[in-house]
Parts: sequence; structure tokens; C-alpha cells
Amino acid sequence: MRKQIAAANWKMNLTYPQAENLLTDVLNAQIELKEDQQAIFAVPSPYLMMANAAVASKDNYFIAAQNCYNKESGAYTGEISTEMLHSLNIEYCVIGHSERREYFGESNQMLAEKINLCLEFEITPIFCCGEPLTIREAATQNNYVENQLRESLFHLTPDQLQKIVIAYEPIWAIGTGKTASTEQAQEMHAYLRSVLAKQYGQNLADNISILYGGSVKSGNAKELFSCEDVDGGLVGGASLIAADFIKIIQSLK
Ligand code: PGA
Repeated sequence: MRKQIAAANWKMNLTYPQAENLLTDVLNAQIELKEDQQAIFAVPSPYLMMANAAVASKDNYFIAAQNCYNKESGAYTGEISTEMLHSLNIEYCVIGHSERREYFGESNQMLAEKINLCLEFEITPIFCCGEPLTIREAATQNNYVENQLRESLFHLTPDQLQKIVIAYEPIWAIGTGKTASTEQAQEMHAYLRSVLAKQYGQNLADNISILYGGSVKSGNAKELFSCEDVDGGLVGGASLIAADFIKIIQSLK
């Protein structure tokens, strides 16, 4: 079943007490999620265990890591493996966020390796894709994003692919307050679903959640999520304010 997902991406923000308070405030809103709805919090690594304990008794609330390494284990000081995440009962991991691609040089090939390791350790990757402004201005965004999917995901079997969540995040909309219009979001989401359908069949494509990310706010979430092919959002800035993220969860269809 295709899930509708509100995913918070806290990035490198909040102290431990602030993180505890934010999570408590959102959970205290007691939002009842339907069977096909999920709320996910991608928290900084040191907070994973605290956060996972906080959502443990809540149906359809989950914790995600923001990143993992593309090697199974070994002498990689400072990195976190998918096996470690699995051993903490973490079920999701953001993969290939544009900030990781840009500041840490993560290539499509490296992300393919991370995806494989996530699946090996039963972690659902939230795979981020999206074009920079120059590509959008040249109107070549469809090819650009399709290529990101091809190089990082299309080696997967259908069985593996159906475990992936995709987040389309146009880079020009991240943290800029400049949201894609509902038409731009719907157009790209429908295109990505058609690419998935061509490669893996319509049935599988219809069951993949494709989230939109890039300046999702409490005021625009409902309109964005109402698009046929937009299955929720990956939310940065607005996920740091409890009242805003609560409204965003309540905007899921
Ligand atoms: P933003 O970030 O909501 O602050 O634009 C989204 C993201 O980077 O996932």
C-alpha cells in the first residue's frame, strides 16, 4: 500500500534537551495516523536511541538516521554503518540528501552502495533526488532526476525497489522559502512514477511513495500533498517548530 508520509529532517540542529522537547511536543498532539499514514523523524545520530524510545509505543511513528556509510564495517573513523543502525532498531535512513551530495561529494554510485547496505540490514532508504537551479533553468530537470534514479536505484530487483521511499527535493527550493508550485511538484512526481512504471511496471510504481521536499511549511503542505502523485513531504526548517510540524502531519491525505 502506498504510504502518505510526513518526514522531519532536523539536519544538524537542536541540543539534546531541545530535541527531547520537540519530540515530546509533537507526540503529545496525539495525532491519530491512519493505516496508510506515517510520521518519521530524521534526527542527528546521537539522538537516535532517545528518539526511537520516544516513538516506540506510537503506531506509525518512526525514526530515521540522516545518513550512513557505504561500507559494511571497518576502519572508517566517525562513520555509521547500516548494521549499527539495524542493531538500534532504526528502520529508516535518509540517503543522498542534496547537502550530502554537495558538501560531502556523494556520487550516484556511492549512493547505490548505501542503498544496498540499507536493504541488506532491513532499513528503508528515503532516497533523495532533485535538480539544481541551473538544470531547472535549462529545462532539463526530468533527464537529470531520472538519471539519479537510474544510477542509484535501477540495479535493484522489483522486490528491493518496492521497499524504497523517494523524496524529490529541487535544490533551489531547499531552505530558500521558494517552494515548487503544485504544478511543478506534480509534474515531476508523475514523471518519476512513469519512469518507475517503464522500468518496473505500473503496479510497482503505483505503490512507491514519492515525497516532496523544499520549503514545505504549515501553510502550503495541504495544497502540495493534495497533488495526486505527491505522497507527503520531507521537511527541514518547519519540522523544527512543533506547532508547524503538527500541522504538516495533519495535512497528509
Ligand atoms: P527545507 O529543507 O524544508 O528547510 O527546505 C528540506 C530538506 O532539506 O529536506
